Amino acid sequence: MTIENIESVLKESRLFPPPAEFSAEAHIGSMEAYKEMHRRSLEEPEAFWREVSDELEWFEDWHTLVDDSEKPFFKWFLGGRLNACHNAVDRHAVGAMANKAAIVWEGEPGDTRVLTYRDLHREVQRFANTLKSLGIQKGDTVAIYLPMIPELAVAVLACARIGAVHSVIFAGFSADSIRDRVLDAKSKMVITGDGGWRRGKVLDLKSIVDEGVEGCDCIEHVLVVRRDEFGEAFPCEMKDGRDVWYHEAAAEVDAFCPCVSLDSEDLLFLLYTSGSTGKPKGIMHTVGGYSLYTYLTAKYVFDLKPEDVYWCTADVGWITGHSYILYGPLQNGATVVMYEGAPNAPDPSRFWKIVEKHRVSVFYTAPTAIRAFMKWGDEWLEDADLGSLRLLGSVGEPINPEAWMWYHEKIGGGRCPIVDTWWQTETGGILITPLPGVTPTKPGSATLPFFGVDAAILNAAGEEVSAGLLAIRRPWPSILRGVWGDPERYQKTYWCNWDGEFYFPGDGARRDDDGYIWVVGRVDDVVNVSGHRIGTAELESVFVEHPSVAESAVIGVPHEVKGQGLVAFVLLRGKDAEGSDELRAELNALVEKRIGKFARPERILFSADLPKTRSGKIMRRLLRDIATGQALGNVTTLADPSVIDSLKAKYTD
Ligand code: WTA
Repeated sequence: MTIENIESVLKESRLFPPPAEFSAEAHIGSMEAYKEMHRRSLEEPEAFWREVSDELEWFEDWHTLVDDSEKPFFKWFLGGRLNACHNAVDRHAVGAMANKAAIVWEGEPGDTRVLTYRDLHREVQRFANTLKSLGIQKGDTVAIYLPMIPELAVAVLACARIGAVHSVIFAGFSADSIRDRVLDAKSKMVITGDGGWRRGKVLDLKSIVDEGVEGCDCIEHVLVVRRDEFGEAFPCEMKDGRDVWYHEAAAEVDAFCPCVSLDSEDLLFLLYTSGSTGKPKGIMHTVGGYSLYTYLTAKYVFDLKPEDVYWCTADVGWITGHSYILYGPLQNGATVVMYEGAPNAPDPSRFWKIVEKHRVSVFYTAPTAIRAFMKWGDEWLEDADLGSLRLLGSVGEPINPEAWMWYHEKIGGGRCPIVDTWWQTETGGILITPLPGVTPTKPGSATLPFFGVDAAILNAAGEEVSAGLLAIRRPWPSILRGVWGDPERYQKTYWCNWDGEFYFPGDGARRDDDGYIWVVGRVDDVVNVSGHRIGTAELESVFVEHPSVAESAVIGVPHEVKGQGLVAFVLLRGKDAEGSDELRAELNALVEKRIGKFARPERILFSADLPKTRSGKIMRRLLRDIATGQALGNVTTLADPSVIDSLKAKYTD
């Protein structure tokens, strides 16, 4: 939890009601309407979800809303058959909607492509047939490691179309991370590209994949998409018999590929995320519940209208991109902007130029990006016309009130509601959020639960308290269905508290006198760096691989732009005890190799000892106190109190 944020939100008392003009036009325009729908979603869930599901197309209707007989392994919409790609693409690719832009893509160098729903339909069918021609069938797992190009969306939807399970790997992960995920999911194929642009450099994805899949017997093919805006591929080596150029294979297949009819509980995708142990977990989401919940949240939270141009700046490699670049908005028939590159390429006015150029009306980003823009300076906004914006969103970490106010004034021109949306990879969609036409917002609060969500704040004993652990009382349609290959971990991580009656997300929160929820951050060993979840145990296990390292403890500390940064305390063996810059560089390189550049700590401190309890447990709480310059908490359980002084001296050096 970031202490700074807790302090600033505790002082926050400003209230921003939605503008009357906004409420008048919104899908839901009054608190009474929200309360009645929320009540109904909890008290008459069958009727509530029946109405929602009638807004999508099913191949066969469901007969039972939810089966909790094997709690916490829930099943939703039993008996129903559908296809997520059908609802996202096919049903808009006929009639008046067919020529509407589905994806408006902009590459970092400035090249653009627009895919109408009809184009997307055609591309997805061709991609799906290509997958089939390479032996991919329903139930197979396909890893996708692509830059933010339209084919990323097409590849994901093509998997959904034929019932293959997509496992998207963010293109900042290292070869080792690819290998872990490919082996864990037993993926038969990796889809990658010859390159993508990031801050003026070409990402060499193919050679990272080559290294990652080496020795992975499960891999039959590597399918390589050409980012061919420049007429030719970036040079990359193709391995005979294994590697296939997408454009060559696609030229050989039929244009027509029907959607497979899937059971509501068939697996739609795996997405790996960090937890409190060293090994990332494959979060499982299924077709029915995930489709419905992302459809409904996108509709109401972003108040999507036919004329909106919607831009979520996340990468499809994270859950936000899955739910709110692809499935949520596309099922609503929205026009979605997709941008390949960095926010400051070629300079920090880039995002605002995109908003102006494409007349973006709904904009969804992360607090870390907002803080980066604040730091770069307001002059980068001066030339951009942001008048098309009508609604702003935030996700990924608690937003500090200062960033909220800047976003509200500078980007929203004081007129756009801000929806601060709390959710997780595991929840599939947004659980706690304002509704833009309804909820008076307070800077830093995610406010109230969405439909079907029954949120509580509990202490360890399960009593309702005003500050404690966030808990969700009953399942909602898009709750994770488990951790791939590890049902026990699913149970232990999320259902071990409160007699298994509540889902435990791992966040701390408080509730104010108006009943608003303020999520303040993780209470487990997960750190949120620039909105990316990193398990401290994951880093610790990387450090101890190094022969000079005996032990390490990694903690999260407040960071001005990233929200949280990582500080590593590293205990060295024998002769290397003092450490050196070379060793520091080696450890950073190891993190880069095992996880990816984005997981590198801010600081690595070499230490002769770590504060431990008499039973040998590292007292991370004290390390955090040292790193944040706080008065030290209770030190009576410390085995050797002198350790603290030497660490303090080192830290402030
Ligand atoms: C944090 C990202 C406060 C939280 C969608 C959660 C937030 C973790 C918010 C999930 C928010 C996300 N306010 N905290 N609006 N949104 N978080 O799985 O700690 O990458 O548990 O999903 O991000 O991160 P994940």
